[in-house]
Amino acid sequence: MATSCRDSVTRAIGFSGRSESMSVLLLRNVSFTDGRTGLDVLAQGGRIAAIEPSLPVPEGAQVIEGQGHLLSPPFVDAHFHMDATLSYGLPRVNVSGTLLEGIALWGELKPQLTQEALVERAMRHCDWAVAKGLLAIRSHVDVCDDRLLAVEALLHVKQRVKPYIDLQLVAFPQDGVLRSPTALANLKRALDKGVDVVGGIPHFERTMAEGAESVRVLCELAAERGLMIDMHCDESDDPMSRHIETLAFHTQRLGLHGRATGSHLTSMHSMDNYYASKLIPLVAEAQVNAVANPLINITLQGRHDTYPKRRGMTRVPELMAAGVNVAFGHDCVMDPWYSLGSADMLEVAHMGLHVAQMTSQMQMRACFDAVTVNSARVLGLKDYGIEVGLPANFVLLQARDAIEAIRLRATRLAVVRNGEVIARTPEATASIALPGRPDSVDWMT
Ligand code: FE2
Repeated sequence: MATSCRDSVTRAIGFSGRSESMSVLLLRNVSFTDGRTGLDVLAQGGRIAAIEPSLPVPEGAQVIEGQGHLLSPPFVDAHFHMDATLSYGLPRVNVSGTLLEGIALWGELKPQLTQEALVERAMRHCDWAVAKGLLAIRSHVDVCDDRLLAVEALLHVKQRVKPYIDLQLVAFPQDGVLRSPTALANLKRALDKGVDVVGGIPHFERTMAEGAESVRVLCELAAERGLMIDMHCDESDDPMSRHIETLAFHTQRLGLHGRATGSHLTSMHSMDNYYASKLIPLVAEAQVNAVANPLINITLQGRHDTYPKRRGMTRVPELMAAGVNVAFGHDCVMDPWYSLGSADMLEVAHMGLHVAQMTSQMQMRACFDAVTVNSARVLGLKDYGIEVGLPANFVLLQARDAIEAIRLRATRLAVVRNGEVIARTPEATASIALPGRPDSVDWMT
């Protein structure tokens, strides 16, 4: 980028001297994920008032010079565990790196949890999320602690962050809704307290039959209460794990179309191809959403393999081709299962693209959709997108299009919620001192 552009962006979003609390905001010269470029976006009273080229600057408006950068709807994380986030190393580190040691480790930590610590870690993660333009999160919350400490903590966090993050909670029976004696009662108590979505973990029940029974029980509970359901489903390398088939069946039987989600679905990676060719249309027919968690799937799955090691992520391009809504989730940030992460959904999309080998132009754009519009559909978000009349929620990225955004894990120059700038990050740039070369590096093409 030319120096003049860089100065202009810095001036506009960093040092304009204008208050960010002003209710009129004009973004000039931005691009959109559908390929439109050179448009201005006007936000007034928290909503998008106009999207046109060369809009006049209203009196007193805050102006951000977009310089042709991509304006995206906010990132949406379709699958997260906010009760465990930022607990890495407590009470110890996961040595084997397996899912099962992670669950055991979380079980060791649970009795030591305090509400204050849960809230503090969740709020810190929400700060990171805002900085990264991640303004809607579906978080599972473990209900297998009779005190429901984490439920109370995350319901509190949900209210605190409501002005800037849509936090949707899933009642998640980590130890198995049938395997753990008080889990079903606790799950219902959590829903009574205001948790939004029914969760489950059929592959962790004692037998395949008990897993299938848990899917039936929980789907009927969701249907009775008129709620969405999101089950951790077949999170293993077992090619015979069949819980997504059961979830699709009960979704179809109970008319839960569009309200059910199968998360992880990693066993599908290892399934027989003939069986997968029968299963995927059933998932599409029942309109069950699929959520892959690329960072976690690629680190946790295949741990029992020698070589070759399976990738263990579900069949993302095949599901998408069949018409299934596929989203990506972060799942974990610095917790018993994953030691890395920074609330960056572009990092998630970047990994998903690589693991699924989705390298065509269309597929790379689909990976961007998986952390934006597809995730929003999983959460059932109303008013999501950048259109006149919708809430002025968006992220200005230091990239020209969705593919460049993934390639660069682009800097979030400005994050806007209801027409207010709530986060800014200076443009990424580097000075170099080499004979015969420019004095700065420009990563954009
Ligand atoms: Fe999960």
